[in-house]
Amino acid sequence: MTGKKYEFTDAYLTGIPSIDEEHARLFEIANEVYDLLEDELVTDKYDRIVEMIDELRAYTKTHFANEEAYMERIGFPHIWSERRAHRLFVKKLEEVDMGAIDNSQDAYILEVLDFLTKWLTAHIKGADRRIGLAEGTIRTETMPHDSQHGNG
Ligand SMILES: [Fe+2]
Repeated sequence: MTGKKYEFTDAYLTGIPSIDEEHARLFEIANEVYDLLEDELVTDKYDRIVEMIDELRAYTKTHFANEEAYMERIGFPHIWSERRAHRLFVKKLEEVDMGAIDNSQDAYILEVLDFLTKWLTAHIKGADRRIGLAEGTIRTETMPHDSQHGNG
C-alpha cells in the first residue's frame, strides 16, 4: 500500500512536541482502522476494527485530558472554548454504535472513521494550532486561511 489515507503533515503541527506526538498517534490509529478495513485477507477483521475504534475513542479522551492540562499550565486564553469543543466531541464519540460495526458494515465503519478524522483534523488545524501561536512555537503565516476561525 502506497501512502497513507490520513497523512500527518506539517499543516497539523503545533510545535509543541508532547501535543504533536499525540496528534500523530491519533492519525496512526485512524490509518490502522482504514488499512484493516481495506485488507481482504485478514480474518476476524471486524473484531479488530471494533477494538481499534474503541482505542481511538479512548486515546482521544486521554489526549484531550493531556492537552487541557497543558493549556492550563500555560494559561492559554481560549481554554474554555477548547474544553467545550472537546466535551461535545466526546459526547458524539460515545454515541457511536459499535453494534452496527459488528454487523460487518463497511459503509458504516467508513462513515464513523470519516466523522472522527474530519473533526480531529479541522480541530487540530483550527483550534489546537492556536496553542502553538500563543506559545510562539509556530507563526501566524503558517496558519491556513480557511481555519483562522477555528471550528468550535
Ligand atoms: Fe488536540
